[in-house]
Amino acid sequence: MRALCWHGKSDVRVDTVADPRIEDPRDVVIKVTSTAICGSDLHLYDGYMKTMEEGDILGHEPMGEVVEVGADIKNLQVGDRIVVPFTISCGSCFFCEKQLFSLCDTSNPNAEMARAVMGQSPAGLFGYSHMLGGFAGGQAEYLRVPYADVSPLKIESGLPDEQVLFLSDIFPTGYMAAENAEIEPGDTVAVWGCGPVGQFTIQSAWMFGAGRVIAIDRVPERLRMAEIHGRAETINFEETDGVYDRLMEMTGGRGPDRCIDAVGAEAHGTGSFDAVLDKAKASLMLGTDRPHVLREAIMCCRKGGTVSVPGVYVGLLDKVPFGAAMNKGLTFKMGQTHVAKYHRELLKRIEKEEIDPSFVITHRIGLEDAPGAYKTFRDKEDGCIKVVLTP
Ligand SMILES: NC(=O)c1ccc[n+]([C@@H]2O[C@H](COP(=O)([O-])OP(=O)(O)OC[C@H]3O[C@@H](n4cnc5c(N)ncnc54)[C@H](O)[C@@H]3O)[C@@H](O)[C@H]2O)c1
Ligand SMILES: [Zn+2]
Ligand SMILES: [Zn+2]
Repeated sequence: MRALCWHGKSDVRVDTVADPRIEDPRDVVIKVTSTAICGSDLHLYDGYMKTMEEGDILGHEPMGEVVEVGADIKNLQVGDRIVVPFTISCGSCFFCEKQLFSLCDTSNPNAEMARAVMGQSPAGLFGYSHMLGGFAGGQAEYLRVPYADVSPLKIESGLPDEQVLFLSDIFPTGYMAAENAEIEPGDTVAVWGCGPVGQFTIQSAWMFGAGRVIAIDRVPERLRMAEIHGRAETINFEETDGVYDRLMEMTGGRGPDRCIDAVGAEAHGTGSFDAVLDKAKASLMLGTDRPHVLREAIMCCRKGGTVSVPGVYVGLLDKVPFGAAMNKGLTFKMGQTHVAKYHRELLKRIEKEEIDPSFVITHRIGLEDAPGAYKTFRDKEDGCIKVVLTP
């Protein structure tokens, strides 16, 4: 089959590789009908994530048609249409029982590698390094889905791929980010980053009863989408003297009640001292992450507020104002998304036409054009916000 493979920093290629097959009685194999490129893939593309190997198949936002079923699978049949969450979960460990699906204790065969770095291993993820399981990803014609009786979501309503595909990751991710923000009715919620995750975070903040949503980015078409689809007030961080000052102005000096970092490790700064330092350190391989947004969220958040972090960080973070966080009594919540905890209820919202997630899609292309699309998406060229591939 054809698949998008990682070959190194800024080097992904569509190669011919072996077809996946059933390896365990709880596997299914799907023929991928739609699959997307995620901001998390950019951390691999930009070389921030360790334990990638040449030839690894990327992608973790797939859906498709079941073409082969393992002997123990009772809930799925050949021909079923399923959306596959990016987190792989066994369904029965201590963590899965608590619906903490991205923290499954069983699904990462390379748990020891992760344990050495993080103390304990999170779940295995599709197409996301050997430390997180070395599972082949879904930017491919076919995909092996382990523990297929646990997380995949069967689509029976005939909704088109584009409306349900993002239940694999970014819609639940935005939703969990808003839930983690502990929004109380009428709260002012600030969202850093108007990429796909930021867009679904904004949508979800309203669902949790926000009174105001303020979105921050520098890419004009992303800010416009946040205004038009997300009904958000916006701040272009390149066109203001300071995000902190602007947010204080907008909130009568108190700061937003809830601050959500939907940017993560690859934040840009505008010449601020900390951002310049982060960039220098990252380029010298002295540090992995550029936590400019996390710092800003901590400084801006109102006392006693909540900082929710859906943005992905990978390593050691420098100069995080933890003293400010402690003395201001902030709450932190974060994590890879427990997709299967949310996707059913979010599918219902789509079926009831409360939301049509396809509003984020700007680019629809074939798998063969994926390498160019990675660059276009990374560099925010051509108005690119979300790319969907049809293998
Ligand atoms: N927690 C999870 O399970 C999960 C799931 C999916 C994605 N993510 C992560 O969420 C983050 C966003 O994903 P995405 O697909 O939207 O990516 P993206 O790269 O398309 O969007 C990031 C946005 O942040 C903006 N940005 C950069 N610096 C900023 C700053 N200083 N202030 C405000 N905005 C800034 C960029 O202009 C861009 O629009 C990534 O870190 C990704 O890895 C996490
Ligand atoms: Zn993702
Ligand atoms: Zn588990």
